[in-house]
Amino acid sequence: MSQDRQATPRERAVQGFERAFGQSPERLSRAPARVNLIGEHTDYNEGFAMPCAIDRDTVVAAAHRDDDVIEVLACDLPAEAGGPGDGARGRFRIGDATDVAASPQWLRYVQGMVAVLREQGHAVGGATLSIAGNVPQGAGLSSSASLEMAIGHAFSALNGWSLPPTTMALAGQRAENVYAGCRCGVLDQLSSSLGVKGHALLMDCRSLAVRPIPMPADIAVLVVDSKIQRGLVDSEYNLRRQQCEAAAKGLGVTALRDVDDALWSHRAGQLDPVVRRRARHIIWDSRRCAGLADALMRGDLAAIGHLMRESHWSMRDDFEITVPPIDALAALMQDVIGDHGGARMTGGGFGGCVIALAPRALVDEIRVAVERGYRSPDGRAAEVHVCAASDGAGVLA
Ligand code: GLA
Repeated sequence: MSQDRQATPRERAVQGFERAFGQSPERLSRAPARVNLIGEHTDYNEGFAMPCAIDRDTVVAAAHRDDDVIEVLACDLPAEAGGPGDGARGRFRIGDATDVAASPQWLRYVQGMVAVLREQGHAVGGATLSIAGNVPQGAGLSSSASLEMAIGHAFSALNGWSLPPTTMALAGQRAENVYAGCRCGVLDQLSSSLGVKGHALLMDCRSLAVRPIPMPADIAVLVVDSKIQRGLVDSEYNLRRQQCEAAAKGLGVTALRDVDDALWSHRAGQLDPVVRRRARHIIWDSRRCAGLADALMRGDLAAIGHLMRESHWSMRDDFEITVPPIDALAALMQDVIGDHGGARMTGGGFGGCVIALAPRALVDEIRVAVERGYRSPDGRAAEVHVCAASDGAGVLA
C-alpha cells in the first residue's frame, strides 16, 4: 500500500489495470489539472482568463473490448463494500452512456465523454479503462476537466481518430454541462487541453484563442489547498451565472465582455446593486488578464502582486465567492510575499485553493507561515503544492 502511494499516476493506472483485468493496457493517455492565475468567472461571460496547466495529472490506461461495454476502474476511489479488489468499479453499455441518473458522479464524466463524442460522430468501441491521478480532489484544481480530457484522448487513441485540442475541450465542457450537472464555462477544459510547459495561457473565452505567455523562470506557482471543500455543482456557481446574465441583459449586451467604460458609466446605475457588483467584478477581472500577461512578460513582480491582490478583493467584495478563512490565508501569504509577487483565491470559490506567484527563494518562508498561521474551520492544516506550468493533454503511449 505505501509503495502504491509513492507510485506515479501512470504506474498506478497500469498496475490497477493489470490487477483488475488480468491483461496489459494497450494505450495510455494523460491530462493535467489547472490553476487560474486571474480572470475568475469571466469565461462564461465571454471575457478573458489566464490559467496555466499544472504538473498534477489524471492518467487513463485503456484496452479494446469485443463487446459494447465500457468497464472502468477508478484506482483512487474506495472499493464498494463487497466489490472486487482496490478502487471503485463502473460499467455501462455504450448505447446507455446518456443514462446517468443512477451513476456515481465520477462515472458521469466518463459516460458524458462517451455520449458527447458519439453525438459528434466519433466512433467509440467497447473498452476497459483504469484511471489514476494525483490531482487533489474537490480543491478547485479541475480534477474533473483533467479526467474528461484524459478519457477523450484514451478513446481517440483506441479508436484511431483525433480531435483538435479546442474541439476536445468543448466536448469536455458539454459532457460536464449536460451529463455531470454543472454549467461550467470552458476555462478548465481549455487549460487542460492546451497547456504549454513554462507558460500561462492568455485565453479569450469568446474566440477561444489562447496565447501562451512565458512565465519568469525564477517564479514558483504555489498552490495552497485550504482544505475547505467546495462542490461546484452544489455551490452558488449557477446563481452567479444567472446574476451575470441578468447584468448583461440589463446593460443591453450579449455578454459582459461587451461592456465598455461609456456603457458602464451610463447604465450601471440602473442595475440592481447586487447584480451591479457581480458585473463590476467580471468586467474588471477580465481586463486584469492583459495586465497580468504584460507584468509576467516584463517580470514585474510588484505589478503581478498588485493585480492579484485587486482580483482577490474583487472576488471578496463584489463577486462574494470567498470565505473569511480563505481571505485570511491569502492575506497571510501576501504578507510574506510583500511586493515580490501576489496571492489570491483561484477557481469557482467558497473554498479550494489560494495560489501565489512568488520567487522560488520565498517558497519555504511561505510554507512555514501557512503551517503556523492557518487552520481550516475544522482544524486542518493547508497542503502546499509547489507546481510548474505544464503541457496539455495527450496520448502517452
Ligand atoms: C470553475 C468553472 C470554470 C470557471 C471557474 C471560475 O472552475 O468550471 O468554468 O467558471 O470556476 O473562474
